[in-house]
Amino acid sequence: MAEEGSGSDAATASSCGDFNLRHLHLELRVEFDRRRLTGRAVLQLGCLRPGQRLLRLDTHPSLGVEAVRARYGSGTPAHTLEHRTLPFTTYGSVLELTLPGPCDPAEPLEVTIEYTTGDGPGVVWLNPEQTAGKVKPYLFTQGQAVLNRSFFPCFDTPAVKSTYSASIEVPEGFTAVMSATDWEHDEKENVFLFTMRHPIPAYLIALAVGDIVSAEVGPRSRVWTEPCLLDAAKEEFNGVIEEFLTVGEKLFGQYVWGRYDLLFMPPSFPFGGMENPCITFVTPCLLAGDRSLADVIIHEISHSWFGNLVTNANWGDFWLNEGFTMYAQRRISTEVYGTEYTCLEAATGRALLRKHMDNTGEDHPLNKLKVRIEHGIDPDETYNETPYEKGYCFVSYLAHLVGDQNKFDAFLRAYVDKFKFKSIVAEDTLNFYLDYFPELKKQNVEKRPGFEFDCWLNTPGWPPYLPDLSSGDTLMKPAESLASLWFAAELNIDAIKAVDLCSWKTYQIVYFLDKLLEKSPLPPGNTEKLAEMYPNISKSKNAELRFRWVQIIVRNNYEDAFDELRDFLQSQGKQKYTVPLYRAMWTETEGTRKLAQEIFATTGNQLHQNVQNFVKKIFVPNKDS
Ligand code: BES
Ligand code: ZN
Repeated sequence: MAEEGSGSDAATASSCGDFNLRHLHLELRVEFDRRRLTGRAVLQLGCLRPGQRLLRLDTHPSLGVEAVRARYGSGTPAHTLEHRTLPFTTYGSVLELTLPGPCDPAEPLEVTIEYTTGDGPGVVWLNPEQTAGKVKPYLFTQGQAVLNRSFFPCFDTPAVKSTYSASIEVPEGFTAVMSATDWEHDEKENVFLFTMRHPIPAYLIALAVGDIVSAEVGPRSRVWTEPCLLDAAKEEFNGVIEEFLTVGEKLFGQYVWGRYDLLFMPPSFPFGGMENPCITFVTPCLLAGDRSLADVIIHEISHSWFGNLVTNANWGDFWLNEGFTMYAQRRISTEVYGTEYTCLEAATGRALLRKHMDNTGEDHPLNKLKVRIEHGIDPDETYNETPYEKGYCFVSYLAHLVGDQNKFDAFLRAYVDKFKFKSIVAEDTLNFYLDYFPELKKQNVEKRPGFEFDCWLNTPGWPPYLPDLSSGDTLMKPAESLASLWFAAELNIDAIKAVDLCSWKTYQIVYFLDKLLEKSPLPPGNTEKLAEMYPNISKSKNAELRFRWVQIIVRNNYEDAFDELRDFLQSQGKQKYTVPLYRAMWTETEGTRKLAQEIFATTGNQLHQNVQNFVKKIFVPNKDS
């Protein structure tokens, strides 16, 4: 378990191995006019190595430290500490403090840092035009992977967990929410008080402040949105979340976080969902009007066990968070929606993995489950489909070796119970698995030729085992047949018209569009026909459908529809839509390349800083991205 050696993390410069963090307290004032948070972070520490004189924390050049105080024990006077900020990487710097005396494991150490945030990537300030309501400004933080060091000085590694509390003062008429189990509101002072009773890593501490209101959608769930989206959010999720939670609890054990709320973010939010404990932050794109995108919520709920309770000790083992979560998501989905639908959704995921490996080459070092993240590399730059979908295949393989779903579910419960509130590496998981199933251990399953656990973890490439998704054929085959009809130079309109898309589930249409995309360009004229024939696709408000449709526009160089691309890119800022679209435009034709530059020039500044940077990298030819 995240002890030295096993969980080394090149992304932190902090002295997290020399101290343990018992509790973190934030006391911050939100100043929209100056776009800054001011106040203090108070760290309650224990010394693990007697005699230490230096304490190093992760921070960011944008974060201004005004003063640092420390005291040993309680009640002793505080000393002012010398502090200096040292360079580290492009994504952070180091705050080095000289302690008042050699630290003593018997004495708790309290360090108070007075600071102000700046324009770092972890704290996102939106002006009113960038919100759904367009009236009040908005602030949100996004910690994963290593951005919270620009929100507060910390041990910014998932190997370290602590409880936290916060006191957030907001201007009149604003509401603050945080990833905390306990919330209080002091209305007189405009202060919101939060406590997280369970230990969590720094990346899961999250704050949002804006014109935010809420409505109950289940016994332990509310939706939080800007006022203009509240009805839509209620409509979309009323009564659906509780079932996911109950099924999750049945499969993986108690849901420990108390509440499970959803916060619908402004459109530029870069992710589909972010599993901040107690309150998942989600893109407003999920408000499709037909409850069709709930798989994202099931995914984030699954992180309540995999990621938030059992956490990867470093970002090189990100697959432990995402691969297990994909598996858990599909277990819940199977229970709620059945095997056919879940296999269809999983096939869509597999297609994304195929595409990613085709783009990078199977042998790319990022196509291993265990990734080496070298000093200086931002873990977010290693983000791709492999930890999700190859991770899913590996967990499915572990289940396949067991051969009995009930037994494997029981293993998952035991695994969560064993490692809850801890941070671990892949070897911990696999050793626990082999100990849990001694008969498999006796058979040396970890060494089966071609399927060696070591090979799964450390060899790049296509997964050696793929779970059987053929139950989804009833839904996939009709989509495949319809797609092949569209590849005929002479369209068989009668055959096409005989297929009633209106009765199809969203993911079936997604699968159909993926098939069209895989083999695009279509024969001349067919894209126009497609648009005409399926206005419910080409005019859809559903972001998953729109994302595929606009890619078809690019791949087929369908100039008459270029405005739809612009509209889509302007309407939302999700990284997984934005980056592939700009990449596709950049590589297609001179015309789409120009279009990409033009759209980015007018709308790029609405995107999250990191997403802007990823797009800019696409625009620099011959430079490795
Ligand atoms: N934790 C991730 C989002 C994330 C990953 C943020 C890495 C920052 C760095 C979240 O759980 C996630 O995977 N979201 C997906 C949802 C999907 C797989 C259903 C997304 O945003 O697309
Ligand atoms: Zn996830």
